[in-house]
Amino acid sequence: MANTQAATAAPTSKKAGTSPASSAPSGELRNVGALDIKDSRTDKSYSIQIVQGGVEGDTATRAMDLRQIKTSPDEFGMMTYDPAFMNTASCKSAITFIDGDKGILRYRGYPIEQLAEKATFLEVAWLLRHGELPTQEEYNGWVKDITFHTYVHENIKTFLQGFRYDAHPMSMLCSAVAALSSFYPEAKNIHDPDQRNISIIRLLAKLPTLAAFCYRHIKGLPFIYPDNDLSYVENFLSMVARMSEPKYEANPVFVNALEILFILHADHEQNCSASAVRAVGSSQVDPFSAIAAGVAALYGPLHGGANEQVLRMINEIGHPKNVPAFIEEVKGGKGSRLMGFGHRVYKSYDPRAKIVKKLADQVFAQIGMDKDLEIALELERIALSDDYFVSRKLYPNVDFYTGLIYRSMAFPMDFFTVLFAVARTSGWLAQWEEMLNDKEQKIARPRQIYVGYGERSFTSKLTNRFPSAKKDALRK
Ligand code: CMC
Repeated sequence: MANTQAATAAPTSKKAGTSPASSAPSGELRNVGALDIKDSRTDKSYSIQIVQGGVEGDTATRAMDLRQIKTSPDEFGMMTYDPAFMNTASCKSAITFIDGDKGILRYRGYPIEQLAEKATFLEVAWLLRHGELPTQEEYNGWVKDITFHTYVHENIKTFLQGFRYDAHPMSMLCSAVAALSSFYPEAKNIHDPDQRNISIIRLLAKLPTLAAFCYRHIKGLPFIYPDNDLSYVENFLSMVARMSEPKYEANPVFVNALEILFILHADHEQNCSASAVRAVGSSQVDPFSAIAAGVAALYGPLHGGANEQVLRMINEIGHPKNVPAFIEEVKGGKGSRLMGFGHRVYKSYDPRAKIVKKLADQVFAQIGMDKDLEIALELERIALSDDYFVSRKLYPNVDFYTGLIYRSMAFPMDFFTVLFAVARTSGWLAQWEEMLNDKEQKIARPRQIYVGYGERSFTSKLTNRFPSAKKDALRK
């Protein structure tokens, strides 16, 4: 059933003010000054505009303004060199704000602490996409649409059954999300707001179903169809855990914990997976393919895969008494990194990690202490007082304690990142749509600084270039 609600990704009000609605930023960059640059090669001077975003927006120069700096008219012009985008803004965005030094995270201006305490995940998903909190009517329609689209085509079951019993669920999820694009060929009409809307609803609705089906496959259990009487999180838990009971009743402690964890994981501005979604989406491919790229990026151990690696690391440590030796190995660069520690942006405590730690206390108070919590606490205690970690500003990130909570819910380790992906789909979709609506965006295509050979002429070192003499003759 197509939904006719038009997408409204950008804030509409351009007036500055103090109330939340009227303080919506314009979404544009303003010129706030200029940089005077002198090229020592030519003695020529250039004035480069400095631009800034909203009230708290960072300042930058437009990299294209540097192109005018050259020593001769036929030269390409000056570029910036920034491996891993350490200091490059690839877009302007009004979705998520992070202040890494102060440990601040906000979605559309709302502090993550308030959203985690008071919002539902689907309310947050709406907020990320539309920029404002939903009215009751909007929320009811949103929940109804998402609930309506939870089922997947029966052939997806056959597709998933083709995987080995021990396939990693992230590989399965990534492939299944990509496969969905073949079921909805009309999704490639990304400039049609109705098509975008229905694809977004389908992705949010079907991700929990696909994730649960991946779980059931690796467990050798039959797939459980969605129960559309349940909430988003309860339905997901039902598809994961239901056996012969006619109606699954999830533990309310787990439902509450997962709702909060989904909110914490919903978006995190231009991280590796969001950048992957934007880059792939910028080729104007359909959103199922773009989101599959996000799942692939999230799978990596330095990104979403870290929550799984934290538990593997804790298992390897085995006992709190082994923590000091493990920390020494990390510092010596012999072992792995301290997984769940450090962040490209946060140079103080990750605000999500604070909430997760409190949540872990609540969960364990109700269902019993996790046996490895002691190891995690000892790791954190030693690391936070060790100069190696302090001087590099390495603090626990969101993944440090989430694994312990997921394990207490009986999720297997290799499923942790799948939970992250279900939640992050809401952020990826908001980022994808914002990118499409941004008139300044084009196909993502970075430059390089070539460091290889100059031109040289080809002389083969092979005496028999093709196994078949016939083919070789063709290339004489
Ligand atoms: N354990 C030990 N040393 C570390 C760690 C760590 N977890 N993280 C960074 N360092 C050291 C690193 O060796 C380097 O030291 P030196 O200056 O002596 O060479 C210094 O700190 C800076 O590290 P970097 O690799 O330049 O920092 P980055 O911003 O590129 O990396 C990171 C960020 C998250 C990839 C990294 O901190 C890391 O690998 N952490 C462990 C994996 C992890 O927990 N990832 C989850 C991130 S949060 C969830 C998400 O967004 O997906």
